[in-house]
Amino acid sequence: LDNGLGRTPPMGWNSWNHFQCKIDENMIRETANAVVATGLASLGYKYINLDDCWAELNRNSQGNLVPKASTFPSGIKALADYVHEKGLKLGIYSDAGTQTCSKTMPGSLGYEEQDAKTFASWGIDYLKYDNCNNQNINLQQRGQEDPATWAGSVGNSWRTTGDIEDNWNSMTSRADQNDQWASYAGPGGWNDPDMLEVGNGGMTIEEYRSHFGIWALAKAPLLIGCDVRSMSNETFAILSNSEVIDVNQDELGVQGKKVKSKSNLEVWAGPLSGGRVAVVLWNRGASQASLTADWSEIGLNPSTVVDARDLWEHSTASAEGNLTATVASHASKMYVLTPK
Ligand code: GLA
Repeated sequence: LDNGLGRTPPMGWNSWNHFQCKIDENMIRETANAVVATGLASLGYKYINLDDCWAELNRNSQGNLVPKASTFPSGIKALADYVHEKGLKLGIYSDAGTQTCSKTMPGSLGYEEQDAKTFASWGIDYLKYDNCNNQNINLQQRGQEDPATWAGSVGNSWRTTGDIEDNWNSMTSRADQNDQWASYAGPGGWNDPDMLEVGNGGMTIEEYRSHFGIWALAKAPLLIGCDVRSMSNETFAILSNSEVIDVNQDELGVQGKKVKSKSNLEVWAGPLSGGRVAVVLWNRGASQASLTADWSEIGLNPSTVVDARDLWEHSTASAEGNLTATVASHASKMYVLTPK
């Protein structure tokens, strides 16, 4: 959507993956504090996004959505003010149907303009709009299928997959589903393979690194989904890798893709600004293996000599013609190649 927003993929935090419906204003405030105190905010994570379950089951007599009194007693405007004072932005959630997916609060069907005005009056910066309980309204009209083909005219990102779960199989299948829509992504509109599970405990550190690196390469929204108030050092090290973030936020805005796959040994790559190339060597197999990316597979002339920057090791080496590395099971190596 050409509204000046989302020129690079959105970055921030969302409540759903870790907390589901167990959210309240104190926890959201503490999260905003932690995002600033840890330095995540200055790395670009600026959206604090409320997901489902923030409102009362019923609208008030004027038909307005009402923040849930037991969990958001100060109201959403006060929360937005708090978050804004920290230099962050507040996102909220609604749904195109009669109720949201949790069925604990109303959806915006028939109240679209009224709810938009309410959100604007509260100072909301970002809306996630779901599609549960939509009364089977004509898909043509609502465009439920294949959002990549139409959502760029109404939003700055769109889901390409079902909900992610905090495990390897779910994460890898989301990556693959999202990959099919790569040509639809660009500044102003991004494919969303769903929010990050990094730090939620269901994957190994290597698997989480692969998750984060592939999301970054695919220009996915980087929406943290763990409890940042108590994340481990390993989790923080992944989420705060500024060289990986820079790949995601590169101004060229081209989604990297899977360019080679053989026996679960995969090469993912995409162009960056300045003639650079981002590459992930991803071992999705069950044992350690040697992986190679040939220049011809990743859009470089075979004779090009590059500086290959290893984004997890933070080291640089010269390479010509191809890049080869030994990669542990479920791990990945991520590089930025800069032609000399
Ligand atoms: C859907 C969405 C999730 C989350 C839940 C909330 O399942 O895909 O990301 O927003 O609804 O109920």
